[in-house]
Amino acid sequence: MYERGSETNFSGDGPEYYDRCKLLFNSNCQFSEKYPMRFVTFAVIFAVALIAAGHLALAAGDAAKGKQVYTINCIACHNMDPGKAGAIGPAIKGSSQALIMARVLSATYPKGYKPKRPTKMMPPMPHLKANIADLAAFLK
Ligand code: HEC
Repeated sequence: MYERGSETNFSGDGPEYYDRCKLLFNSNCQFSEKYPMRFVTFAVIFAVALIAAGHLALAAGDAAKGKQVYTINCIACHNMDPGKAGAIGPAIKGSSQALIMARVLSATYPKGYKPKRPTKMMPPMPHLKANIADLAAFLK
């Protein structure tokens, strides 16, 4: 374990810090104040990179998020399994993003699309605008 006397240059905040350093770098961990600062900087850059990556994933559509949105907003009528017909709505697995957008935002259809049902029961849900790509990724 940590023996403070032998680590004269160490200036972290105690044995825990030392152990963490050992674990991460497997070194003597004789650093002074500026090194921990570097780790903080690194951690911040890493966190920012992660968030940026998350945003990219979102732009491309996040199927897991789409499933969540689907479960909350769609299965009152559509089947939990979008490949099967639901209590009220038809099967919608494989729907294009354009179709999902038209249906969900304005309860319309893309130009030239032949609807599965002639009915007009589905309400528009424009508040889901930010989740169209996610829904499309899930219904793919
Ligand atoms: C109140 C019931 C209801 C809800 C809630 C609902 N739908 Fe529908 N949906 C329908 C019905 C019924 C149809 C068939 C056309 C019609 O009657 O509007 C349909 C049609 C569709 C179609 C077109 C199918 C085709 O190829 O013709 C898509 C895509 C669709 N729904 C997606 C969704 C998504 C995504 C959600 C959730 C965000 C959702 N629906 C929520 C009832 C619903």
